[in-house]
Amino acid sequence: MSEEKGENVAIKRQYETLEDLPGIGPSTAQKLKELGFHTVESLAMATVRELEPAGISEKKALAIISAARSSIGISFIRADELLKMRQSVLRLTTGSKALDKLLDGGLETQTITEFYGEYGSGKSQICHQLCVNVQLPPERGGLNGAALYIDTENTFRTERIVQMAKHLGLDPQAVVKNIIYAEAYTSDHQMFLLENADEIVKQNNIKLIIIDSLTAHFRSEYIGREMLASRQQRLNKHMHRLIRLARAFNAVAVVTNQVMAKPDVFFGDAIHPIGGHIVGHTSHTRVYLRRASHGPVRVARLVSSPYLPEGEEIFKITENGIEDISEEEKAKSSGR
Ligand code: GTP
Ligand code: MG
Repeated sequence: MSEEKGENVAIKRQYETLEDLPGIGPSTAQKLKELGFHTVESLAMATVRELEPAGISEKKALAIISAARSSIGISFIRADELLKMRQSVLRLTTGSKALDKLLDGGLETQTITEFYGEYGSGKSQICHQLCVNVQLPPERGGLNGAALYIDTENTFRTERIVQMAKHLGLDPQAVVKNIIYAEAYTSDHQMFLLENADEIVKQNNIKLIIIDSLTAHFRSEYIGREMLASRQQRLNKHMHRLIRLARAFNAVAVVTNQVMAKPDVFFGDAIHPIGGHIVGHTSHTRVYLRRASHGPVRVARLVSSPYLPEGEEIFKITENGIEDISEEEKAKSSGR
């Protein structure tokens, strides 16, 4: 099992680049790249319809996709192989044992984890911490990989990364170099960045892809009921792109999301993440963050997961980053 750690899922290399695939000449390759397909991995996850704009017939598209799939070992597989793929899922530590426990050992590769909560609940701080942690070796809860950070609100701070890296005894300069950063100015730009990320992910051994925030641009650009359907459709497409990257490269995918209060809800939870069901269905694990009280303590609630029970844990945000709280602090905050 251990020899698979840190490796891409089931990759039996046959074709290295697009041009290696049968039926793809330089001009088709160019068109595919313009559509955001830069790697064999991304083509393996494509649908026939997605290749249409490159002027590729249905028959040819099927052949290309199937060659790409066979190259990276994705086709019908036996259940024992499915189990093996499942076993190649790796976990990334949050920096807090309590939070890791809530997530059954940390954030999973091949799926999306969504952190949602109000302003200041710690979503971006967790994202920063994960960018550092992903660079740790597996024995310290990392994935020996780099991070890709798509920032929509200009809240990424290199200084904070340096602080967290120092605390973990890592070379801050080396850590900073392993974070590929892009600021997205609009929702279209945000989608464009992700659609063109596959090559960067591959070349830089990226094991963590962050979109902070997933919904802010969509929320401010698509206003009113009549735009809701198209917003959801775009968000859905964006999330699918993310999940495909996470699967193709055995990477952790993280998105953040703000919440809105539903004033018409009197019973149950009146706080809802933006984006509703579409984001809900595609993001496999959802964690709701909130302040416990004034101060550094935060409460994380696992709201939905494919197989884990709901639960709550507390952690804190300090100079060092995301940390566990002591028994003493726990006792104090239990009156929350
Ligand atoms: P929005 O993006 O505005 O929705 O909020 P968010 O959930 O992303 O909040 P974020 O992760 O930015 O959390 C901000 C909080 O983290 C601050 O209010 C501080 O409590 C804490 N924090 C941020 N930086 C530091 C730091 O350098 N030291 C300490 N001790 N705490 C920090
Ligand atoms: Mg934030």
